[in-house]
Amino acid sequence: MRVFGIETSCDETAVAIYEGTDTGEGRILAEQISSQVNVHAQFGGIVPEIASREHLAVLPGMVESVMQATKLCWPDIDAIAVTAGPGLMGALLVGTSFARATGLVNCIPLIPVHHLEGHLLAAGLEEELPAFPFITLLVSGGHTMLIRVEAIGCYRILGQSLDDAAGECFDKTARLIGLGYPGGPAIEKLARGGDPDQFTLPRPLLCRDDVNFSFSGLKTAVMHTVKKLAAQKENRDWKRNLAASFQEAVADVLTNKAIRACHQQKISHLIIAGGVAANSRIRESLQAAARDRGLNIVIPAPRYCTDNAAMIAYAGFQRKRLGMPEIRIWDARARWPLGQQEAL
Ligand code: KG4
Ligand code: ZN
Repeated sequence: MRVFGIETSCDETAVAIYEGTDTGEGRILAEQISSQVNVHAQFGGIVPEIASREHLAVLPGMVESVMQATKLCWPDIDAIAVTAGPGLMGALLVGTSFARATGLVNCIPLIPVHHLEGHLLAAGLEEELPAFPFITLLVSGGHTMLIRVEAIGCYRILGQSLDDAAGECFDKTARLIGLGYPGGPAIEKLARGGDPDQFTLPRPLLCRDDVNFSFSGLKTAVMHTVKKLAAQKENRDWKRNLAASFQEAVADVLTNKAIRACHQQKISHLIIAGGVAANSRIRESLQAAARDRGLNIVIPAPRYCTDNAAMIAYAGFQRKRLGMPEIRIWDARARWPLGQQEAL
């Protein structure tokens, strides 16, 4: 079975073709990602209307290009999986409209995919997914969640951020330090060689026994520190040390809560997903903690942590393979709680 995946929910236009068997194994035949980072960087963040226009400008050519690279034609494709939400409405509409038109003209069924389901299954792209149930820590620009995955399509949210998402906190902190957009990779780069113990920053909600998160206090602590130090032009290292201290605080919180969720649920398989999981210090911290406690941890390659279409094609493939109920009435949706796909 071959599934064509399309992702346009935010600022990456991505397409991919996944080929898999009835038993669930498979591989990516071709994929392409076009990032809009340079277009939005001059505005210091994503401008939704520009994002939609950029998707529209590049998507048709990218689809054509992966079809040519694989020498496949539309009759060789069994389904088109497209991100239907959550995300920027205009951006989503470009992908879903393109998918609908292509499906209609070529008589190919569509599979609307929840963007977060794509992220949380991305670990299955390169190796077999662990046995169910497993715990997924999903850390992206808009979400920070710990999820108990009972089966594909069966998700129980154990905890989530009560305010800012981890990625959002990286982006806002980067702005405070004077770094550009996107903030996560910029902080990681600056933090290299910095001293993570130079500043004592809070680890919010660590003392609480639940697995919820809160990052706004950490961001405020960074803001106060920046205000105090901004005048110290002679000491250039403070920014590097602050970036490293901030990254360490986020790594500590994510690691501690993910391990706690596994412990509380008595589950030994942990998957990490979402853009923030591309951060090498956070990956290291989670891997070391999992190793110490005998947990099996899977973190996708960094390019499958950030937005991509391979994960959307893969989620669509799994849904089709398992004969999951089709979502009959659907449209792009900016808000779409995880776990409510079938209820639409
Ligand atoms: O999953 P993603 O690509 O898009 C969403 O679905 O939101 O995540 C984007 C978020 C952004 O906040 C970005 O700053 C963060 O992931 N991010 C990182 C890194 N790469 C991306 N955060 C920390 N370190 C990174 N290397
Ligand atoms: Zn994403």
